[in-house]
Amino acid sequence: MKTKFRFTKEDKVVVLTGAGISAESGLKTFRDNDGLWESHRVEEVATPQAFQKDPEMVWRFYKQRYFQLEEVKPNPGHFALKKLEDHLGKNFFIITQNVDGLHQKAGNERVLEMHGSLHDCFCTKCSTRFRMKDINLTPDIPLCPECEGSLRPDIVWFGEIPYYMKEIDAILKNINYFLVIGTSGTVQPAASFLYLAKMNRANTIGVNLAEPENMLFINEFHKGRSGELLPELVDLWLAT
Ligand code: APR
Repeated sequence: MKTKFRFTKEDKVVVLTGAGISAESGLKTFRDNDGLWESHRVEEVATPQAFQKDPEMVWRFYKQRYFQLEEVKPNPGHFALKKLEDHLGKNFFIITQNVDGLHQKAGNERVLEMHGSLHDCFCTKCSTRFRMKDINLTPDIPLCPECEGSLRPDIVWFGEIPYYMKEIDAILKNINYFLVIGTSGTVQPAASFLYLAKMNRANTIGVNLAEPENMLFINEFHKGRSGELLPELVDLWLAT
């Protein structure tokens, strides 16, 4: 394997991850299954309208995904990114579209979960946030321990504004390397970060099973599984 890049401790390195990095942990990606997520159409489970229409069904879907996480472990791709954070410290950030918490399970701390987290929920009435593990998930629609309002999963659904947009904007203004890993580059605004990073003169690197939609903005592309490629790539990027 070859790469023309070497990271120093002074380099600011930002990684954008998507469903592909968790594929080797056994989680399904979104766009490789005829547009179906665990046999649901996106509009059925991932929009505020779907939750309004059938909150029980939407909760069933997210509870199933939440409980599935108990058996899911980070893979070598996640651990390679932990190694990067260990070396780069505050000069490193992961921006993830994933809601599975696997980066944190691998030990990463500087992670921005722009699409929310399966581990969290919040009250639709009083807006208080809770960890799922602290909530009684038995009722069809779990209730807020504070005000008895209906809880909802803390997932950014289609049509909603992703989290940390201000922070991400600031981070992308001042970076040396931008890595995109395991994302198809089809969902905005995340897909546009690559373009923004490039406009801000970052070196851009892609690691993906197939060429993403926004391939045009990638300087160096590594085609394959992130769990197989990243451990070696990270060692090369950090080699002195
Ligand atoms: N290693 C690297 N890349 C992989 C692997 C792997 N082992 N397996 C699959 N991929 C690639 C696929 O080729 C695809 O390009 O990962 C990408 C996954 O793309 P999507 O399924 O579209 O997932 P993602 O880009 O994360 O979707 C973005 O869309 O549905 C919404 O909110 C949801 O966060 C999600 C967002």
